[in-house]
Amino acid sequence: MTQSVDHWAMLASTVATALWAMGPAYVPNNAAVLAGGGRPIDGGREWRGRRLLGDGKTWRGSAAGTLAGVAVAVVLNTAAQSVSGVLGVSLPTFPLPVAFALAAGAMAGDVGASFLKRRTGRERGASFPGLDQLDFVVGALIAVFLIAPGWTSGVFTLPVVLAVVLVTPALHVGTNVIAYATGLKAEPW
Ligand code: CTP
Ligand code: MG
Repeated sequence: MTQSVDHWAMLASTVATALWAMGPAYVPNNAAVLAGGGRPIDGGREWRGRRLLGDGKTWRGSAAGTLAGVAVAVVLNTAAQSVSGVLGVSLPTFPLPVAFALAAGAMAGDVGASFLKRRTGRERGASFPGLDQLDFVVGALIAVFLIAPGWTSGVFTLPVVLAVVLVTPALHVGTNVIAYATGLKAEPW
């Protein structure tokens, strides 16, 4: 009995750490939807008869998304101690380079996904199951590991990475369905 309670507590603390550590990477995509518009990153250029990235990836959306992710990290930093105390889990804080890498990496992952979508003949807004839900996770994790390998290997242990990969798609689908239902997003993915 005690042992199974321990297991559940460990699972809960792993998921809490995963959600917390990915906070600065979760927000950029949603902020970009709100702020998007203006000049596309690819400037309208094409490659092999298709847009390089498409009109859905703009400078304004990317900058706003990155700033929003950094802002989330700053807020989480101020709350880390008290939330850790309440949950009984030691949640990480985000040094500025880490915050920036998580946020900008998430945006870059999303941009990379659009590049792949265009190369595979998918028009702007088309879904690419799997890629849509995890592009920003892969981007954020690679970027933060490159910028701060010590911080990243301490926080993103194998169980935490597994929790991120399993829980994120559900969160992503949920927020996008809400954004679609409220008219903020053109498609529910
Ligand atoms: N957006 C942006 N800049 C980004 C990412 C998103 O301006 N770097 C904005 C765009 O207005 C975009 C909207 O957020 O249309 C929704 O984002 P997303 O679903 O990623 O783009 P799509 O329009 O679906 O285009 P794609 O098929 O290339 O993903
Ligand atoms: Mg889309």
